[in-house]
Amino acid sequence: MSLTRRRLFQRLVTLDETQLNPEVVSDRGREARVEFAAQATPAGAKPVRISSNENPLGPGQHVLDAIVGKFPEAGRYPFNATQNESSLPAAIAAKFTGAKAENVVMGAGSGEILTNAVRAFTTSAKPLATPWPSFENPYTTAKKIGSPVREVKLNDKLQVDVEKTIEASKGAGLVFFCNPNNPTATVHSHATVADFVKRVRAASPDTVILIDEAYHDYVTDPNYKSAVDIALATPNVFVTRTFSKAYGMAGLRIGYAIGHAPTIKRLNDFKMPYGIGTPHIGAMLAGINNPAHIEQERKRNTDVKAFTVKALADMGFTATDSQANFIFVNLKRPAAPFRDACAAAGVLVGRDFPPYEKTHCRISIGTMAEMQRAVDVFRKVLGAATTTAAKDKQ
Ligand SMILES: Cc1ncc(COP(=O)(O)O)c(C=O)c1O
Repeated sequence: MSLTRRRLFQRLVTLDETQLNPEVVSDRGREARVEFAAQATPAGAKPVRISSNENPLGPGQHVLDAIVGKFPEAGRYPFNATQNESSLPAAIAAKFTGAKAENVVMGAGSGEILTNAVRAFTTSAKPLATPWPSFENPYTTAKKIGSPVREVKLNDKLQVDVEKTIEASKGAGLVFFCNPNNPTATVHSHATVADFVKRVRAASPDTVILIDEAYHDYVTDPNYKSAVDIALATPNVFVTRTFSKAYGMAGLRIGYAIGHAPTIKRLNDFKMPYGIGTPHIGAMLAGINNPAHIEQERKRNTDVKAFTVKALADMGFTATDSQANFIFVNLKRPAAPFRDACAAAGVLVGRDFPPYEKTHCRISIGTMAEMQRAVDVFRKVLGAATTTAAKDKQ
């Protein structure tokens, strides 16, 4: 290893200097750093960051090796790299029956694509329709550019309300359908999504339909299936996916949209040129070519989630049926004081999600060791609150 490469490498190594640090690669806690900058955590102890729906293990050795392998090319623009950025849509398309490179557009995270979709398909006369609460990016972008937003309340199972969303789609420029939905972790079946698309197309043929599948790799519900087949076959429909969740690459910023070619072409007009760095190209290719690693990550998440859900249920608190790497729990009390008390004990949980901030909290799934530590803290924080409330009643 040359001196220059060693210096680059040193920024990424763990203390024993033998491995890349997955937390650096996944940029674990990026959102949390911004969000909790002012929040006190105990000095010295490393906080448990379960606030931003990241993969606590990062991307896996195969990806870390690919990044290191690509570093000598970091001086090259992505279009001059040996596997260059323009090869990525074809590499993604090869994983889906019937897809071609023209059906895929890359983004700096799927966040770039959500932003560009709002820019491309909404105007002051063509609103965005979005479930609420849901992932905020489309909502925030629409507000910034002056496109009206139709917020659609969730149903009583805290799922995206299909009937109301169809209604809100009429005349909209773009409808956002988050499946699974963040923050509620609920999912709709393939049959329901197919019916939704058919009915929006009939009621409002010019409305573009965005189906966000950021948490696709974590779903275990047998009725669920990706909507990519629908998107490839239907005008004005596309699906977004990300490498930030199960693939553990949130810090690398890689996502894509896949769907009907003319819709993807329109998104391409808004795409940041060469937004994916040269080492990241290697990371993404290594990631998609190792499905066994994702299978293992899904299983790990399912097991740790089951432990966490049961521990909270034993304390008397129920979560929605989570199909993601986070849970949405009814704590029967406001999230803010719970969050502050947990932070003081070194555990960082999710932000407020109005209108559920007075009852529910979003908790991401960390490693088993982290969740055991977190559950101990939850027990103390929630137990203490219960005791105080009981005393108040006496
Ligand atoms: C539902 C959903 N979509 C998209 C994103 C954006 O992720 P990224 O830009 O990292 O791909 C997130 C991030 O948390 C999300 O929860």
